[in-house]
Amino acid sequence: MFNEVFCRIAARIAEVSRFSFDEINRCMEKSNHSKKQDVTLFVIKISNAPDADAKELFDAIVDARIELIENVSMKGSSISFDVNKRAIMKDVLCAIQSKQDKFGSNEIGKGKRMVVEYSSPNIAKIFHVGHLRTTILGQFIVNLLRECGYETTSINFFGDWGKQFGLVLLGYMKHGSEEELEKDPLRHLFDVYVKISRDAKDDAGVDAEAREIFRKMEEDGDEWCMGLWKKFRMLSVEKYKQLYKRLNVEFDVYSGESMYNERGKQIVETCGLVKTDPDGSKVFDFGDNQKVLAMKNDGTTLYITRDIAAAKERLEEYMPEKIIYVVSSEQNKHFEDLFRTLKLLGLDESRFQHVNYGLVAGMSTRAGKVEFLEDIVDEATSVMKRVMQADDSRSSFTPEEIDSTAEILALSTLLVMDFTAKRIKGYEFDVEKRARNTSGTGPYLQYAHCRLKSIEMRNNEVDYSSIDAIDFSLICVPEVFELVYKLLWYEHVVEKCLDDYEPSRIVTYLQDLAGCINSAINSLRVMGVDKELAKARLLVLSSARIVLQNGLKILGATPLSKM
Ligand code: ARG
Repeated sequence: MFNEVFCRIAARIAEVSRFSFDEINRCMEKSNHSKKQDVTLFVIKISNAPDADAKELFDAIVDARIELIENVSMKGSSISFDVNKRAIMKDVLCAIQSKQDKFGSNEIGKGKRMVVEYSSPNIAKIFHVGHLRTTILGQFIVNLLRECGYETTSINFFGDWGKQFGLVLLGYMKHGSEEELEKDPLRHLFDVYVKISRDAKDDAGVDAEAREIFRKMEEDGDEWCMGLWKKFRMLSVEKYKQLYKRLNVEFDVYSGESMYNERGKQIVETCGLVKTDPDGSKVFDFGDNQKVLAMKNDGTTLYITRDIAAAKERLEEYMPEKIIYVVSSEQNKHFEDLFRTLKLLGLDESRFQHVNYGLVAGMSTRAGKVEFLEDIVDEATSVMKRVMQADDSRSSFTPEEIDSTAEILALSTLLVMDFTAKRIKGYEFDVEKRARNTSGTGPYLQYAHCRLKSIEMRNNEVDYSSIDAIDFSLICVPEVFELVYKLLWYEHVVEKCLDDYEPSRIVTYLQDLAGCINSAINSLRVMGVDKELAKARLLVLSSARIVLQNGLKILGATPLSKM
């Protein structure tokens, strides 16, 4: 609808002037800021005599009285005007009602495939807030790509290999308990790892022993060690799956570094592009003293070696347009090295993209620093519950309703907190502050959705489905004009996200939309008004609710009906 409306406008202007449709399009800038005019034509971009041409164009537009535009003005060689909301209202609302939860989707990616790798926590290490960022940001990107028609494969690439697993296994032998492991594998393996690292500080023998265990795993595939390692991995993945469910996060593929150890070695040995350093290690040499270590002198692989093998395999297996890695900016150097090595190996660099993000000031609670995903979600949920219980209007909620609503609101709070600024910026992790229903938060968006939903439910006997029978003149008020124009922009905002994978675009849009909704609700009472008026008003409100709902879903939130 968005492109259609502005193309129609450009076509009409081209018709009445001596500029072509393409020229008008090229100089046309659109805005949805309430303080600016909707459209500006920068004539200087298409003319060598901009002042004279602008004057002529201005007169032509005014004389033509184009139905789609109004308030035409001129400043220097720029012409501005507003879109006539009255003229587009029916088409916009009609498009939303006919597409429903597909409104906002497009077919840009039709027939193309994308691979997105995200979350990728390390077994036996902490899941810090940075991992929460990759998890929700990655899922947002997957939701977005699917909305834009891409076949998308989501991959979780566990940190399940490397010399620390020698320590983890040794730690488990010394300090582990099968019962604890089954009960809470993530915490137990972390505990064990912390304990054995402490032992290693006092006793140099521990490190040597751990190294020997890892060597046995890598080189001999020692059955007993590998059996234990498999169990650690399996239990950890199962636990993570449960936690991801609470975040509306889902993976098509659970992969991990361990699967690319052998292939990594093979690539290093057969590619013919590595040199051997004096100490016996193998490197990719880029000249100018720039090297990337490919294999240690004891024949073990590195993080990057396993990434090289994984990247190659993903290209071969999925043939994607791109592989997107959602990983913190702390690993910028790693991905630069990875991508140039892949290029050296003859792969097309443009098919790899690192989508990074900044550091977050960690989450602390009374109990100390939060180190596990489960604690982040639990803590956010309990904050939310406290906020809800402090409010009398929740007295009709059953305890179960409070629990499930608090969990959904907690996730919305986390998502909006994380997605409000540009990815590269860090922010302070403060759920307490972000859990309140004030402009800019997750609960604020959910609240607007609940208000609309409740109006719809209370008036479900009003039938506005035959749009041709609606009398639009009844709703020609500024609040509706502003709201309808906002709704028109949704498709465009989704499309723009493909350029930079910035969820802040959608959050900013939805916050503005929620503002428009709140003012519209106040002047569009449905209950007890004339039937025709009720129909027209409900059509607008339900359309706004559909768009808000679609936006929340792309972010990864579950839209609420009641809170
Ligand atoms: N496991 C790593 C970490 O937690 C992130 C892995 C990122 N992905 C990759 N293909 N290197 O730091």
